[in-house]
Amino acid sequence: MTTLRAVICGVGAALPPRVVTNDELSAYLDTSDEWIRQRTGIRTRRRVDPGTATADLATEAGARALASAGVTDVDAVVLATATPDRLVPATAPEVATRLGLTGVAAYDVAAVCSGFVYGLASAAGLVATGDFRRVLLIGAEAYSTIIDPKDRTTAAIFGDGAGAVVLRAGGPGEPGAIGPVDLGSDGSLVELGMIPAGGSRQRSAGGTAAPEDHYFRMQGGDMYRHAVTRMTASASTALDRAGWRLSDVDRFVPHQANARIAAAVAERLGLTGDQLVSNIEHVGNTAAASIPLLLAQAAADGRLRPGHRVLLAAFGSGATWGATTLVWPEVGAVPIPS
Ligand code: UT7
Repeated sequence: MTTLRAVICGVGAALPPRVVTNDELSAYLDTSDEWIRQRTGIRTRRRVDPGTATADLATEAGARALASAGVTDVDAVVLATATPDRLVPATAPEVATRLGLTGVAAYDVAAVCSGFVYGLASAAGLVATGDFRRVLLIGAEAYSTIIDPKDRTTAAIFGDGAGAVVLRAGGPGEPGAIGPVDLGSDGSLVELGMIPAGGSRQRSAGGTAAPEDHYFRMQGGDMYRHAVTRMTASASTALDRAGWRLSDVDRFVPHQANARIAAAVAERLGLTGDQLVSNIEHVGNTAAASIPLLLAQAAADGRLRPGHRVLLAAFGSGATWGATTLVWPEVGAVPIPS
């Protein structure tokens, strides 16, 4: 029996037009352009204007990925996001309908910054059943909507955006085939990154949450250390499972948490700066959107070319982590917002 693999055949992205500079943040926060650049590598990030939500970015990125794949229909839409339009229901069905895909399976994946890698595993599982010929996987965030404007730690890092891939059923040896996926979690680290209010924990306690409790809180230093350790270990495991050596890797596409985290993981793995692909300077940390947005931009500007052997790795709140490998395929070109 042939093993069915999920094979990337299209990619797309979307960014809200509003650019927020470090100087703009420094005007009302105790921070500076120099601090943010040196400690995170970020110069600008995008933010949605009031009225724009995750589904809007997801729909735009999804439409571009479908165009890139040259298809109009899929059998499932999977949306990785930490900022769904509403707590209930999932956002994916609305995105599917707006893409003209009413009737298909549609669900959200909640793994914060690891969401896209978790989504790849989920989509690969759907394809492996033989019942889903094509899956649209989107990572999208309006992360600024959960950022406390008074919190310099999170306000400096996070941005909004979306990226998407179309996956079709194919064989393991094909360019674009998702390799073995390593996934992991450690729920004892929940305090490192969380929104305290809004869910059943706070509601069942009967208390009234303070408005600030609806914002994302992060213990940056501990998150940083765990991100480096876990992403390095997960990337190594994914390489082992794929039967790849380090010298096989042409491009390392890590979740864009912080430029220093990506560089530290690359260094620990023994990769050179040439292999490391990044966009954090211009878009910040876009959580579940980070990897597909970077894949789309790098494919569009030639940093990622057909035949490149690519290593993906992510770490997010939860804590969750994951990594996988693929050979970058030929995909149809799409205009990527700069
Ligand atoms: O996407 C996955 C989840 N997120 C991450 O993986 C993010 C991981 N963490 C980080 O990227 C970094 O920890 C930060 C960028 C958040 C902070 O950088 P750091 O070099 O780790 O600084 P730190 O947390 O050790 O804090 C050092 C100081 C603190 O001040 P005190 O307590 O020493 O007085 C912070 O309050 O830097 C302060 N600080 C800032 N100062 C100016 C934190 N954010 C800022 C800021 N501007 N924006």
